[in-house]
Amino acid sequence: MTRLSRRGFLGLLGAAGAGAALAGCGLGAAPGQTGEQLTSALPLPEAFRVPLPVPPVARPVGTDPTGADLYRVTQRVANVEILPGLRTPVLGYDGIFPGPTFETRRGRPVVVQHRNELPVPTVVHLHGGHTPAESDGWPLDLVLPAGNAAGWTPHHGMLGDVAAGEREYRYPTDQRAATLWYHDHRMDFTGPSVYRGLAGFHLVRDDIEDALPLPRGERELPLMICDRAFAADGSFAYPGLDQGMRSLPGVEDDWMEGVLGDVVLVNGAPWPVHEVDAARYRLRLLNTSNARRYRLVLRVPGVPDLPFVQIGSDNGLLAAPLTHQALEIAAGERFDVIVDFTALPAGTEVTMINPLGTGRTQDVMRFRVVRTAPDDSRVPERLADVEPLVPPAGAPQRTFRFTRGSVGDHRGWTINGGSFDPARSLADITLGETEVWRFVSDVHHPVHVHLDAFQVLRRGSEGPGPYDIGWKDTVDIRPAEVVDIAVRFEHYAGRFVVHCHNLEHEDMAMMATIRTV
Ligand code: C2O
Ligand code: CU
Ligand code: CU
Repeated sequence: MTRLSRRGFLGLLGAAGAGAALAGCGLGAAPGQTGEQLTSALPLPEAFRVPLPVPPVARPVGTDPTGADLYRVTQRVANVEILPGLRTPVLGYDGIFPGPTFETRRGRPVVVQHRNELPVPTVVHLHGGHTPAESDGWPLDLVLPAGNAAGWTPHHGMLGDVAAGEREYRYPTDQRAATLWYHDHRMDFTGPSVYRGLAGFHLVRDDIEDALPLPRGERELPLMICDRAFAADGSFAYPGLDQGMRSLPGVEDDWMEGVLGDVVLVNGAPWPVHEVDAARYRLRLLNTSNARRYRLVLRVPGVPDLPFVQIGSDNGLLAAPLTHQALEIAAGERFDVIVDFTALPAGTEVTMINPLGTGRTQDVMRFRVVRTAPDDSRVPERLADVEPLVPPAGAPQRTFRFTRGSVGDHRGWTINGGSFDPARSLADITLGETEVWRFVSDVHHPVHVHLDAFQVLRRGSEGPGPYDIGWKDTVDIRPAEVVDIAVRFEHYAGRFVVHCHNLEHEDMAMMATIRTV
């Protein structure tokens, strides 16, 4: 099979950095990060002024012939107000950022028809979804722009199923309740596309979770955290990004460590504030940053930090709640937590801070307690049955090394020394068998596995870390670390990917094809 031309490696676009805001190569990463900091070219707003937006819930348009709930999404460019008084063009699912939130139920299949009215091809992936290969968002299964499909001649067509304008994604939703998310996954261009807005929540609920007395309604908040930098006109600054949006260049070599912004957005708003009752809240934390890791702490003046009581991980409920004074969340990860404001008098301000940040990225958002209110929620001692994934003696073992590398004289990121090759599987896996996978890193790599969740067995010579508990689909591998996981793939035979969720690493080829048989 022909070797694919890696755009990043071959530098086909050779675009000059266009954004006025680009400070060029930064001073290197802050501790706890792998990435380069971009600086905004305009004065940034004061923190904790903009109210927290909550993305609207997607409404089904009907039922498809198989009985699945049918949704339609139009991907389009829209101007949205992110910084007060300025317009930011986004690539949006239904023209909004974050995209609409899908509320789905275990056992109820969902079909989403995506229409691409953007100027660039897209691929939709449901992150955390137990999804057959043809709907998983294989990075070469492009949906070409509806208006101009002929203008795109994908030269890798034979390695993907290319659609003109529209594509239907089918989600069986045969999986435990969890916080999933959907985002663009186009080969070589995931970083700039997600950065410009292509991400949204997709929640799965089930009867087990419904039976728990957890906070709900207005007291259940999905929180999508990401960082961005802005050009002088209010548009998103990304290295090499063309202001006119006609082309979206991929990652440039200087930025291959990862792009870090200097503004923290929660649900698309800069350092927002949210008024809360003195009650328990359920926060579904999701980090959609291209590269940034956060250490989240809830600071209250004059009293100890408020703990996070974790009830769920990437792929659903834990067996029992777990209390953290701080939460470390890498790109792609989710933490489902309960925060208890009950004891706080009205007027108390609780600030979610990020001690891993520098300057303004040390702040995330604020909660302001405004009233006392009845609360019959609680966090039960037992949450759900979590089957421990125990690899049998003689279970297949595989090692994936995530390291800097090069192909010819072009730099990039590699897995086991190779760059992403859609035509060659790095692992052929038997469905239903539990395997042991070892991830080895040089710098930070949040490693994500498609199709099924896994469990962390050990981190270095210790057991799982405090943030590794439960069913995970993304695991934060820190510099020079070795992490072992147990994984079992079920039901769907086909071609999937394993990759680093630092999106610049992913676009610079830190992705591998796997095959389930
Ligand atoms: Cu969230 Cu393969 O991606
Ligand atoms: Cu995924
Ligand atoms: Cu990486």
